[in-house]
Amino acid sequence: MINPHGSADLMPLYVSDQNEAKRLLEEVKSLPSLLVNSAVAANAVMLGAGYFNPLKGYMNLADTMSIAEDMKMKDGLFWPVPIVNRTNDISSIENAGRIALLDPNVEGNPVIAIQDVESIETIKGDQLHTITEKIFGTTDKDHPGVGTFLSQGKYLIAGPIQVLNYSYFDGEFPDTFRTAVQIRDDIAKKGWETVVAFQTRNPMHRAHEELCKMASEAVNADGILIHMLLGKLKKGDIPADVRDAAIRKMVELYFPADTVMVTGYGFDMLYAGPREALLHAVFRQNAGCTHLIVGRDHAGVGSYYGPFDAQTIFDSLPPDALKIKIFNADHTAYSKKLNKVVMMRDVPDHSQDDFVLLSGTKVRDMLAAGEDLPEEFARPEVAHILMAYYQSEAEA
Ligand code: ADX
Repeated sequence: MINPHGSADLMPLYVSDQNEAKRLLEEVKSLPSLLVNSAVAANAVMLGAGYFNPLKGYMNLADTMSIAEDMKMKDGLFWPVPIVNRTNDISSIENAGRIALLDPNVEGNPVIAIQDVESIETIKGDQLHTITEKIFGTTDKDHPGVGTFLSQGKYLIAGPIQVLNYSYFDGEFPDTFRTAVQIRDDIAKKGWETVVAFQTRNPMHRAHEELCKMASEAVNADGILIHMLLGKLKKGDIPADVRDAAIRKMVELYFPADTVMVTGYGFDMLYAGPREALLHAVFRQNAGCTHLIVGRDHAGVGSYYGPFDAQTIFDSLPPDALKIKIFNADHTAYSKKLNKVVMMRDVPDHSQDDFVLLSGTKVRDMLAAGEDLPEEFARPEVAHILMAYYQSEAEA
């Protein structure tokens, strides 16, 4: 199987030994604690699950700046997005060597991880500007990822962590939340060698479905890992439980049995386009996938990124940065001329009118009005699940 990023074996930070976990929970009682923000908690989940291998915890300012500027840590490891613990209030943890991190997303704010505090640094205004500009390609506060990122705090608390749980993800999505360790195990059990990962934060329409099938065929894959984001999204995006139900229905009805694993991971969407695509590649490699599909406006939002910027950024990497390969997909849509989903680059004789293209807004309007989506755009069973959701929202 493909090696994880930066090490021969996966080194998840979740404490799986029950006795050790018990001992740590006892220790927590005497530790100063910090209520972290949602992004920090999600980073803990990803670190715990092995997705952010080989990191040992949260980064310091030198690594953060180095990643922003050069996409590598000070020790030379390729890494595209800083993984940090930021806060605006350090009054509860001043002079502490070891702290308990409290989860903001679970009632009662239980401890999600314990951190050794190696340093607490202040990010200066110009440094935060540089980091934001480099990671998001913009400092526009209206960009949903930038707005969230800028508000996450000026103090950077660096140091290794031990992760005690997976926040709300395994409880809320028991059938879908999977760690990188579990996915690797499942891939090994199935005996798959070539595995194509599909990142998504949406329910899957025909274009998504065919994209998976085309990529799988092109690389002669043994299986497809549909890997959906289960964490926080911007307003207007469809909640994870609805997406999960829609995707499972589509896989059940329209993919050959035992060729797809429907899974999810616990992370908040950054909407950082190209840089997020690189992070997506890192953690799919850690989950044992040999390929990642990157299509049009991958992890993008609004018109902040060029439609294929998330593909071209991979061309700028040193050849040994990653082992996972990218399947670059062109804009995919249903051709009325050929009566099937195609990639636009494959049908140069088509004009815009030959495709069924619906904007996200148009789709939402149709669903809210209880109108069926065209079958060329969405499978009827998928459309049905989405329509039920939109109508319940409209009535609420
Ligand atoms: S994302 O934010 O998770 O990237 P989404 O779930 O819409 O958003 O997309 C999942 C993947 O499918 C991404 O790689 C994206 O580029 C690709 N994709 C979505 N729609 C299309 C399309 N019509 N044509 C080509 N690629 C697409």
